[in-house]
Amino acid sequence: MDFDLPGLLEARGGEGYDLTGRYLNPQLPRMLHAIGFDHPYQRAEGAYLYDAEGNRYADFLAGFGVFAAGRNHPVIRKAVHDVLDADLADWVQFDTPLLPGLLAERLLARAPGMERVYFCNSGTEAVEAALKFARYATGKRRVLFCDHAFHGLTTGSLSVNGSAEFRKGFDPLLPDAWIALGDLDALDRELRKGDVAALIVEPVQGKGVHIPPPGFLAAASDLLHRHKALLICDEVQTGFGRTGKYFGYQHEDVEPDIVTVAKALSGGVVPVGGTMAKGWIFDKVYSSMDRVLVHDSTFGSGAAAMAAGLASMAVIDDEDLVGNAQRTGDALRTALQEMVDRYELLGEVRGRGLMIGIEFTKPKSLKLRTSWNMLQAARRGLFAQMVVVALFQRHRILTQVSGDNVEIIKLIPPLTIGDTEVKMFREGFMEIMEDASRGSGLMWDFGRTLVKQALRN
Ligand SMILES: Cc1ncc(COP(=O)(O)O)c(C=O)c1O
Repeated sequence: MDFDLPGLLEARGGEGYDLTGRYLNPQLPRMLHAIGFDHPYQRAEGAYLYDAEGNRYADFLAGFGVFAAGRNHPVIRKAVHDVLDADLADWVQFDTPLLPGLLAERLLARAPGMERVYFCNSGTEAVEAALKFARYATGKRRVLFCDHAFHGLTTGSLSVNGSAEFRKGFDPLLPDAWIALGDLDALDRELRKGDVAALIVEPVQGKGVHIPPPGFLAAASDLLHRHKALLICDEVQTGFGRTGKYFGYQHEDVEPDIVTVAKALSGGVVPVGGTMAKGWIFDKVYSSMDRVLVHDSTFGSGAAAMAAGLASMAVIDDEDLVGNAQRTGDALRTALQEMVDRYELLGEVRGRGLMIGIEFTKPKSLKLRTSWNMLQAARRGLFAQMVVVALFQRHRILTQVSGDNVEIIKLIPPLTIGDTEVKMFREGFMEIMEDASRGSGLMWDFGRTLVKQALRN
């Protein structure tokens, strides 16, 4: 019997919404409907999604950061077709295939000081390995993390999550402690207890786009090493040029002990994660033949994922996407920064490269404050949601609120965008801020709908 995928897609097209509600996560279609995002896309290319009518949507969300090189990049797709056509003997398990070695070689060349890589299938798995490696290599148990931190949602990663709403109901988790991002005194206090294996930190935080103060990573690394503890930089979101450097920690003069990667390495085609570390850490974890599989995953280092990784890194280099993220990110941030003085609802624009946070703030004028307070009374974050919905419905730009209960939206478009997309975003966002600044009208009418939904939820 032939399995006919195109036929299946044709025959059942349009059922995704119902099937998700019935068999997967019933809250997902509900939520998408509530914010008007229940929109079927038919195809995607580069920085754009297209619906059945041919309408184009600018994707400033990039699949939560996986599409650094844009969607359906021909070079990455070809690499995956080629690897399937090569009929390789994949996942023999008791062998040493070529592609993981080649990807490790290429990856490590970008992270001087890192000497080994463990490949897995997602960001959270890369973090799980980092936590285990740090605990085993130091012989200590606690891992410190920062307020607002996000490192994934499996149980180990959740133990270093800085948002109560994710952790609630899942404890007890691993022994841990959080510090405020940038608080070296708090780090010192925790380290003096003598049981800390590591601090895990995102060079730019995904939730809220918070950046550690200048010099924090380097000072934290010194402090950690004085107490024989390790610095883990989680580059799952910031890696591969997102912040305008190859890795986000490279904005500082610091050499982490462990670095986690995922998202963009996949090219948006085959999931992959990786945990890089200094050689001595791997030597301890994999210290004898008996321990050869002490940390492993059946699907790690699969040929398709490795090929996608190699092709993605080649594209990022060939198209100078790191340099483009720096230049275009600067242009976009500057354009947004210029609006901060003009609109009282706009608090701050921050970020690095093409990882940008726009934070809204309580307005001063009475007319706006009444409307703002109405939203805040129902739930924090509704104004940001209102802007996200308006960007989508009026300007066909896809963005997200950067976390629960925050008035921050986050922009993480493909690193391929240029002047056209900067102009498009600037004009769309400005129109929305003009409208919101009137304190009444369509935007705020929709705000009232969101309030009703929030109260009903
Ligand atoms: C910094 C960081 N670490 C880890 C993760 C978890 O990655 P995944 O969703 O692939 O498990 C994420 C996901 O957003 C992330 O941003």
